[in-house]
Amino acid sequence: MKHFTSSAEETLALGEKYAKTLEKGDVVLLYGDMGAGKTAFTKGIAKGLGIEENVSSPTYAYMNDYGGRLYHYDCYRLSSGEDAEGLGLTDYFYSDGVCVVEWPMNIADVLPKKHKKVTIIKTGDCTREITIEE
Ligand SMILES: Nc1ncnc2c1ncn2[C@@H]1O[C@H](COP(=O)(O)OP(=O)(O)OP(=O)(O)O)[C@@H](O)[C@H]1O
Ligand SMILES: [Mg+2]
Repeated sequence: MKHFTSSAEETLALGEKYAKTLEKGDVVLLYGDMGAGKTAFTKGIAKGLGIEENVSSPTYAYMNDYGGRLYHYDCYRLSSGEDAEGLGLTDYFYSDGVCVVEWPMNIADVLPKKHKKVTIIKTGDCTREITIEE
C-alpha cells in the first residue's frame, strides 16, 4: 500500500496509525536513504504503541529499548550480521516487543524470515512516498 506525506508530522501520524496493525513480536524493516524519515516514522510507531518517552535516533547506541515494548535499531554503522550478533542485538528479534530496524540490509543475514517491510522514498524536500508491505 502506497502513502504520500508532505511533512514530518504526517509521516509520524502514518507511523502512529501503522502501529495499530502491529502485533507482539513483529519485526519491521525500514528501508530508505539517509534523511528519508525512518526515525520520524518510528516516532509515530512509538506513539501508537503508547510509549511516552521521547524517541531519538539510536545511531550511536545501535538500538534503543523502550521498556521491552519497542526496540528501535539503527544498523547504519554495523557492517555484518555477525557484528549484530556479537553485540547481542539479534536476541530481541525473537522477543515479545516490536522491533523496528533502520538500515536492515547491513545485517541482512541475521534478520528473521518473518518480518514486515516499510520503504520510504524522498520525492522532494518535504514529500515522501511510503510503501507499507505485509
Ligand atoms: N514528509 C516527511 N516525512 C518525514 N520527514 C520529513 C518529511 N519532510 C521533511 N522531513 C524531514 O526529513 C528528516 C527526516 O529525518 P529522519 O531522522 O527521520 O530520517 P532517517 O531516515 O531516520 O535518516 P537516517 O538514516 O540518517 O537515520 C527530518 O529532518 C524531517 O523533518
Ligand atoms: Mg534514522
